[in-house]
Amino acid sequence: MSQWKTYEANDQMPEEYRKYLLELMLFQADSEFAGAQRVMENMKYAPRAEEAHMLSQKAFEEFGHGKYIWDLCEELGVDTSQRVQALVTNPENPQGVKIINGFRKENWSQLFTQWSDVALFSVVVTPAAVAFLGQYKDSSYLPWARTSYKIYKEEQGHLGFGMWAAKRVIEFDGEKGRQDLQDAVEKFMTVGLGFFGRSAQESEHFKIYHKLGLKPRDPDDLRQEYLELLESKLTELGLELPKNVEPNFEMQLGYSNT
Ligand SMILES: [Fe+2]
Repeated sequence: MSQWKTYEANDQMPEEYRKYLLELMLFQADSEFAGAQRVMENMKYAPRAEEAHMLSQKAFEEFGHGKYIWDLCEELGVDTSQRVQALVTNPENPQGVKIINGFRKENWSQLFTQWSDVALFSVVVTPAAVAFLGQYKDSSYLPWARTSYKIYKEEQGHLGFGMWAAKRVIEFDGEKGRQDLQDAVEKFMTVGLGFFGRSAQESEHFKIYHKLGLKPRDPDDLRQEYLELLESKLTELGLELPKNVEPNFEMQLGYSNT
C-alpha cells in the first residue's frame, strides 16, 4: 500500500530514521501544546458564553494533540516531562522546546485584536493545518499515522468552529462584522500559506523527510489543496479570497524549518 518501508514502535529502525522522526514529532507536540496556550489567551475576546465555551473546547483538544504526540515520543524512549514543564512554567518564552514561530506569544499576539480575528483564524489558518498535518495520516511511522487521523478529525472540527464563530460575527454585528472578517483574511492567509514551507525543489530537508516517508506529500500540492478548501469556506461566508497574497515564512507554521 505504501511506497515507503513502514515501522511500528517496537521495530528496529535505522538511526537516521529515528532521528528525523523524533525531530518532527517533538516539533509538532511542542507546537500543538504552545498553540493551545495561545488559544487560551484569546479567551479575553470571547463576546458571549457560547463562544467562550466553544473556544475552551478547541484549546482542550489542542492540548490533547500535544499529549498524543508526546506519548508517541515516550514510547520511543524519550522523556518529555521537561518539555511540558518548560512550557507551563514559562509560557511566554519557553526554553528547550521547539515551537513554530507563529505560536510564539510575541508573534501570535500581534495577529489578534478582537473576536472576529479569533473566528477567522480557524477559517483561514486551520485549513492549512488540515491539509498539512493531514499528510501525516500516511506517514511511514504507523503509530503517528493512526494518531494523525484522530488529530485530523479534530482539526476539521476546529474549522467547523471557525465557520460557526464567523457566521455569528455576521449575525450579531452585521455589515461591520462582515467587513472586519474580510479585512483580516489577508493577514491570516500569509500565515496559512507559510505553513507549507518553500517548494520541494528548494528544500533539502523536505527531500530527506520525503525519502523516509515522513512527509509523504509535495508541499506545492498541499498548498493547492489548502487554497481550494479555503476558497470554498470563504465563499460560504460571503467573503472573498484576496489575490497574490505572499506567504510569511517567518511565521513558519509548517514544521519544516528544522
Ligand atoms: Fe492541533
